[in-house]
Parts: sequence; C-alpha cells; structure tokens
Amino acid sequence: MVSKVGRPIPGRVGRSALSGDGSGGRPGARHGVVVALVAALTVALVLIGGVASAPFADTVHLGETAIAIPGVARTPPMGWNSWNAYGCSVDEHTVEQAADAMVASGMREAGYRYVVVDDCWFALQRAASGALQPDPTRFPHGIAALAAYVHARGLKFGIYESPNSRTCAQISGTYPGSTGSSGHEPLDARTFASWGVDYLKYDWCSPDSNIDRQVSAFTRMRDALRATGRPIVYSINPNSRVPGAPPGGIYDWSGIGTLWRTTNDLLPGWALHQGPAGDQGVSEILSSTVASAKRAGAGHWADPDMLEVGVPGVLGTSYPGLTEAEQRTQFGMWALLAAPLIAGNALPYMNETTWRLLTDPAIIAVDQDPLAAPVTVVPGTDEKVWRRTLSDGSVAVALWNNDDSTATISIPLARLDLPAAEGFTARNLWSGAHATVRTAVGAQVAAHDTVLLRISPTPVT
Ligand code: GLA
Repeated sequence: MVSKVGRPIPGRVGRSALSGDGSGGRPGARHGVVVALVAALTVALVLIGGVASAPFADTVHLGETAIAIPGVARTPPMGWNSWNAYGCSVDEHTVEQAADAMVASGMREAGYRYVVVDDCWFALQRAASGALQPDPTRFPHGIAALAAYVHARGLKFGIYESPNSRTCAQISGTYPGSTGSSGHEPLDARTFASWGVDYLKYDWCSPDSNIDRQVSAFTRMRDALRATGRPIVYSINPNSRVPGAPPGGIYDWSGIGTLWRTTNDLLPGWALHQGPAGDQGVSEILSSTVASAKRAGAGHWADPDMLEVGVPGVLGTSYPGLTEAEQRTQFGMWALLAAPLIAGNALPYMNETTWRLLTDPAIIAVDQDPLAAPVTVVPGTDEKVWRRTLSDGSVAVALWNNDDSTATISIPLARLDLPAAEGFTARNLWSGAHATVRTAVGAQVAAHDTVLLRISPTPVT
C-alpha cells in the first residue's frame, strides 16, 4: 500500500475566497463539454429495444436480513476522511482544520457531516486497562476532545480500526505497533462510544482470504457496536490485500455493515491496471461496482471507496491524479450509484473547481434521493448509459464516456424505462440547461467525462 501524504495546494478557505468566474455556472458549463440535448435525434445506430433491467446475477447475502446498525444512514453518508490527503501524518490540528473548512466552505450546508480520522492515530501500545489510546504527540488532547471539537461545529466524528491484530498501515510496515481490535471488540466499541464516535471505518486489509473468519470478525464488532446503544455508522472494508476478487464485490454484506466497500483501494487515476495491492482507478471501479450498488438502500450502502476529487496525484508513481473531466465523472457517477460521498482532499486548500464540484446541489440531490432505487446499466450500451429512478418520478441518466476521445452518446427514451407521459424535460445537471425531449437524448461527451441528466415528465399545462 502506498501511504499517501498530501501536498496541499496553496489557497484560501471560505466562500469569500471562492468568487465566481462570471459564468455563474457549474464545472461542466465552464469546461466546454458540448451538451446537446437532442429533441428529435435520429439514432443511426442499431439499438436494441426494451427497458433497463439489472444485467447482473445476485450474489450471496451474508449476515442477517436486518439492518446492521439501526437508526443511521437513511441516505448515503457524506463527509471527509483524512487518508487520501494526509495518510499517516494525520494529527488533531489537521482534523480540526478539516472540520472548520467543512463549515466555512459551505460543505456542511451542502450535506457533509462526518469527519473521519483514518489509520495511524494510535499510540504504539494499549493502556494498562487494555483501552486504545491515541499517539500522544499528534493527538495530545485525546480523541474525546477532538470529537467534541467536531461536534461543536454541528458535525459528526469518525475513526478507523481493523478486525485483525494489526491495522492496514501496520500490516504493510508503514506504521509501527499492533493495535487492531481482534479480541478487544467489546472494549474498543465501548471506548469509541465513550469518546463520542459516530462512524467506525473497520478495515480488513489482510492477505487472509478466509470468508468465515471475515464474517465472524466483522459481525463481532457489529454486535459490540450495537451493544453500546450509540448510533454508529459501521463502515466495513473486507478487501484490500485479499488475494483474488475483492470479497466486497462478491458478497452482499448489507446484513453486517452499514456501508461495505465493494473494491480494493481507489487511487487517483483513471485506469491503473491493478496497482501493487490491487489498487484501481475510477473507470475500473465503475465497471466492477454496479452489481453491488443495486443492493443499496436505507441503512446499507455499497461503498466504491472515497472521493479523489481535488486530491493531487503522486509524482513519480502511476497515480497521476484525476483530470477535471475524470473528477466530474467520479462525483457524478458516485452520486448516481447512491455511494457514500466521503471527500478525501485537503479541505482548507481546495480550489474553486473542487469546491463547486463537491458542493453541487443538483448532483448531491441525486446521491441523497430518498427512494434509493437500484442503478442499472442500460443493456446493450456497452456501459455508456446508466439510469436510476428518483423519488419524484424523474430518472437520472448518465452518459459516461470511458473512451480516450470525445464521443457522441445517445439513447432513445423508450429504452430508459421512463414513466408514461406526453413529453419529457431533460435537464443537464452540470450546466442547468434543459430542453423538451420526445424521442431520444444524447450529448457529445469529452474523453472520460460524464453528462448527467435528470429526465422528468413535463407537467401538463
Ligand atoms: C486500506 C484502506 C484505505 C485506508 C488504508 C489505511 O488500504 O482501504 O482506505 O484506510 O487502509 O491504512
């Protein structure tokens, strides 16, 4: 595993620092993606008829049918996690700054709530009582004080642990000690609850691929969290370093975790062709995660990993960072998937493009749509067209260009499983442009970019 230590981009925080460019538009509008909503498109391609349906087989459901932790995550959690920008150098000041930036930038108003400390917060040893304790140099005021700081800003606090005896960084040798929760689950859950933890990221990250051991370890912590009585989002990762296909993509973990990671780690790139630890880029994760996403619903969400929006690449590695189009694709497609939106960038230093993307209300509304209907790839489109029914009867449609050059992507309305109506209005969620459509929608989509549309029945006047 590559430990990613961020290189913050100089900048300022806060709405006042984020003055508009005069266009008043969202990123897509400025980027020059030609978004042609075609009212009466003659589709020259041979298009197979029929409506969208789930083209993937169901996978094995693990655990109970009941929701893992009652009362949390009715919609996909939104927040920030320290790992992608700060790796093992995270400290309490960084986390406080992230919480402050979440408020000052308007992210809290946009729906972001959880501030999560990832790996490497541990002291080398447990206390004499057996309780976990934080590194005294980087967290001198302790975790309860840090959680209180976050709570005082109207936010929620999260932390990282592992079901094994060592955390991911400890297993990979980039952090000393052996402070995993194995054998300590009830005490650790009580410690977290006493500190005011609202979200636990629980990370397998081990070459041990035994599914029974995984299920019992993740279930032990689920039960320990339940026993505290505190509503704690339980975010599990059964992948990373496990040989073969990621268990999070093979099994349905919705009876065990509130969120379950579907893939190995997402690093800031488009197509990584399986990096050293099975790491993946945005396009690879998208192709592999749609099957799991269709099982998402209130209290149980498939998690294709955190956002790389605004996270710089790592020079000298094969993780170049995402282009603006690729960032738009990640944010837009994660929203279509109803994925958790966990920002990973250095919040106090984000630039205007990143801020506009992360706070885009039209895209966040798709992510948080209360219906949580399954997303499907429209059959016969080579994964270029995805759709999801929203609670107001409209349908969100993604035209995703995974090619390396601009492409025209179009689809007849008859294949989008729209409700019966005389006519439809299609709105481009990036630019806000809208048009009446009768037979088809289409757009020119730049390489690696995505056009997101919301197609609604036109009200009868
Ligand atoms: C694994 C996880 C990452 C991060 C690191 C921390 O790789 O998948 O998200 O938590 O461990 O070491």
